Amino acid sequence: MRELVDSCHEYDCKVMIQLTHLGRRAHWGQADWLPTVSPSGVREPAHRAFPKIIEDWDIERIVADYALAAEHMQAAGLDGIELQCYGHLIDQFWSPVTNFREDDWGGSLDNRLRFTHLILDAIRARVSPDFIVGLRLVIDEQMENGITREVGIEIARRMVASGQVDFLNVIRGHIDTDAALTDIIPVQGMPASPHLDFAGEVRAATKFPVFHAAKIADIATARHAVASGKLDMVGMARAHIADPLIVQKLTEGREQDIRPCVGATYCLDRIYLAGEALCIHNPATGREATMPHQISSQSDRPGKMVIVGAGPAGLEAARVGAERGHRVVVFEATPKPWASSTGASSNAKGPGSSFALTATRRPMKFWQRIPLSSSLPAAACPIPNCSRAVTNWRSPRATSSRAISHPGRRYCYSTTAPITLACRRQKSLPPAAPGSNT
Ligand SMILES: Cc1cc2nc3c(=O)[nH]c(=O)nc-3n(C[C@H](O)[C@H](O)[C@H](O)COP(=O)(O)O)c2cc1C
Ligand code: SF4
Repeated sequence: MRELVDSCHEYDCKVMIQLTHLGRRAHWGQADWLPTVSPSGVREPAHRAFPKIIEDWDIERIVADYALAAEHMQAAGLDGIELQCYGHLIDQFWSPVTNFREDDWGGSLDNRLRFTHLILDAIRARVSPDFIVGLRLVIDEQMENGITREVGIEIARRMVASGQVDFLNVIRGHIDTDAALTDIIPVQGMPASPHLDFAGEVRAATKFPVFHAAKIADIATARHAVASGKLDMVGMARAHIADPLIVQKLTEGREQDIRPCVGATYCLDRIYLAGEALCIHNPATGREATMPHQISSQSDRPGKMVIVGAGPAGLEAARVGAERGHRVVVFEATPKPWASSTGASSNAKGPGSSFALTATRRPMKFWQRIPLSSSLPAAACPIPNCSRAVTNWRSPRATSSRAISHPGRRYCYSTTAPITLACRRQKSLPPAAPGSNT
């Protein structure tokens, strides 16, 4: 941690980290195999653990762990910490959805905030006064029986009045289901900066430094958020994953070079799948040890590089090739770059499939998904722009070559020389082999 912090401080920036106890939003099979805990033992739909109802000695241990962690972070040179409240244990005490205790930890707002105050007291007792401590908290859970906007603002006011926190990082919504999570981490196609105005209202109500992040992916919106007084600081999580050089490019006046986050949220999925935040839009992210973000060396043998397919991989290969000094030519069958990946194309094939075929130049199995509602004509493929006469309709896993339906989908399947289809589309390539069924 010290090494990481020192290397950031060399660039005159501040470094903070988030501390949390996930409460019910976790699994027992980690760390010391302790049971998950939560105030009233309510399961979270997303993580599905059966939490133990938290007991006083659990609370004591967890409060002490928070304080110890904060102390360690300051010792490692960090400038501050943020406590992650929303959806995690702190918020599980706050929210009526997860706390219906009738003892000192439930019922009145004072009781529901008791755990938070204990943590803040314990932390403040262990760190120096200039160490920044903030909260990332939900103001409006937007769910039945959840924390309302009024209660959320009241919680924020009480936190400010405690004098124990330096900033509020506000979110709106809830994260107990994957569907709800997309309102907090909006994906591609959802509105940009959906909660920015709301965060501005919290700032106005609390008159306290407010941060906020939720699909503020571009500099112009971030600039507006600060200039209009809605936020004191803008969180841009995925924007930095897609382009870690975003600040450098901004300070160098190269805004137009910023690689935008497209909101695919592969980064988050990848964490759940493989524990690493990779980016669908930037292959170097998370692979910095082997793949640089900035191409500094030129090839000593510049040549001509031909790339077949202007999908994400093809365009990135083209960019790197060009930066290394090669003359790059990109072939694309559809009218626009990225068209087959974004769905903008009328070509119903999956991303880059025709290019894989032309690039490998060998017969491959070739599947296309067709909505179940499509009728299956005897001889013609119903996929737009696919003029093949189809001989076999079947599920990928089926052994029969007769037409069958597959739950939710049907597949057009051709085993013989699908490469010729791709060749025909890219008119400069050889025509279909005689006798192929395409
Ligand atoms: C890969 C990934 C990891 C995240 N991890 C956390 C986390 O540990 N704690 C947290 O409060 N939010 C986390 N978030 C949510 C972000 O902090 C942020 O609220 C969200 O991505 C919306 O902001 P953005 O549109 O700028 O990405 C994560 C998001 C992503 C994409
Ligand atoms: S994978 Fe990359 S482009 Fe997609 S949302 Fe994450 S950071 Fe943005």
